[in-house]
Amino acid sequence: MALATETKRLVAQFEYTDEDVNIGVKEFLRQLDEGLSKNGSSMSQIPTYVTAVPNGTEKGLYLAVDLGGTNLRVCSVRLNGDNSFNLTYSKAAIPKALMVAKTSRELFQFIAQNIETFIKTHHYDHYEHHIRRRETMSNPEGYRDEAILRLGFTFSFPVRQVGINKGYLIRWTKGFDIPDAIGKDVCALLQDEINLLHLPVKVAALVNDTVGTLMARSYTSPGKTGALLGAIFGTGTNGAYIEKLSSIKKELEGVYDDSTGEMVINTEWGSFDNQLNVLPTTTFDVKLDLESVNPGIQMFEKRVSGMFLGEILRVVLVSLLQDKSVQLFHDDNSSHNDWKSTTTIAPESGIFKKWGLDSAIMSVAALDNTPDLGTLRQELDSQLDVYSPSMEDAQAFKAIACAIGRRAARLSAVAVGGIVLQSGKLTDPAYADQPIDVGVDGSLVEHYPHFRTMMHDALKAIDGIGEAGAERIRIGIAKDGSGVGAALIALVAQRMEEKQPTAIESMQQVRSELSLKNLGAIDEAVVPDAAV
Ligand code: GLC
Repeated sequence: MALATETKRLVAQFEYTDEDVNIGVKEFLRQLDEGLSKNGSSMSQIPTYVTAVPNGTEKGLYLAVDLGGTNLRVCSVRLNGDNSFNLTYSKAAIPKALMVAKTSRELFQFIAQNIETFIKTHHYDHYEHHIRRRETMSNPEGYRDEAILRLGFTFSFPVRQVGINKGYLIRWTKGFDIPDAIGKDVCALLQDEINLLHLPVKVAALVNDTVGTLMARSYTSPGKTGALLGAIFGTGTNGAYIEKLSSIKKELEGVYDDSTGEMVINTEWGSFDNQLNVLPTTTFDVKLDLESVNPGIQMFEKRVSGMFLGEILRVVLVSLLQDKSVQLFHDDNSSHNDWKSTTTIAPESGIFKKWGLDSAIMSVAALDNTPDLGTLRQELDSQLDVYSPSMEDAQAFKAIACAIGRRAARLSAVAVGGIVLQSGKLTDPAYADQPIDVGVDGSLVEHYPHFRTMMHDALKAIDGIGEAGAERIRIGIAKDGSGVGAALIALVAQRMEEKQPTAIESMQQVRSELSLKNLGAIDEAVVPDAAV
């Protein structure tokens, strides 16, 4: 009984009402605008220099590397030009030691080695062709780069991007901590290691996973208006959306094509409200934050994403286990247990270890609607070394886990709803009756039961969206964003390279613009080789 009462009290702490959602959206819009106006605000609002989304007709073979939170993925993508693609990929777990290595070289070396293995396995022709070319490099034409594979580098951390393949790491998130890399151009770090292995690969584009998701969604399901937002709800959470250039008031230092009047912005909403003006904060959130590698940062992410939900639950369970008046995972004798056994929790249970509770078990809890919660109880046994948990234990576990999951989904609606309102599309007659398309990816949105439904329910409660507006928000899974999306941006980068005038063309253009024809021919000999 004491356990049930205490559970109720805890569940109430994770309640996030419709009113809270609306207060959250207001503040989200304020901080979003602040991020568009100046650098150094809590939501970074990073300009990506990507000014158009694809329409599905793009073609070509590209490589993509995705350094996300948990895994490294290397893939090649053949874009077929008809909204379809073929993808070959390999995946490797990122060794924990590399996430907190002394120098970034160890991490980037690991990535380059994985690229090498991938090319040798899946694109040996390119590899061999390139090696042969190197051997014949002495020919008068010198080395040409036909065999070079262009690579889109999905680097899902906050980066100050200054060009399509140049960006300086602002800070690590999701448990990574290699101080040496901060402030460095991550594309150059990767290219250096690729060059050391003599691979025929050019890091052509730097992509956040959310931008990739937005691109992939636009490529595979083009509507009349294209996708508005790409969002990740996985290990971390973040979103990238299309913003009007006229609303970006801070200085744009890189080169970009302004013909569309729009640019994709990487919000880095994981850091929304680091100052905790409106985010719900329980004592458990405070404890988790204090014990994280980056206290005070990514405060929204720490309440929403998969990496943290299991840990919040674990911290709550530990507090319950410490309270001797509440008998969690403990009973007096077998007569109190409907399985006629006695419950014990092993000292080596993940519940007693930091990060020891994998969020995946929260999905099991949410899904188990059997009368005796048998599936969840088995899982508690196999995953968390709780021997013979009672029904009351499982009920408490399920109620608290669901409350944490539901709060996360409703908080997600704050971000998605905020972006929809910011776009103005719901009230713009040009988009009347058009769906507002949102591409999402990540373990949470894919596997946590009813995450999207809970998000949708909260969207309906937002002033300015309502039932009718929420109906128009189409949230669809966009898998492979970091592969296909990165490939698409590598393609954009290649087009930009091709479009870029050679030095001679530029000088001729300048000459004609200035009507300096009478100055005579430009001496082509003075044009440096590298620029041609
Ligand atoms: C973290 C990163 C962000 C990324 C997100 C999802 O929030 O800072 O760049 O997009 O995780 O992977």
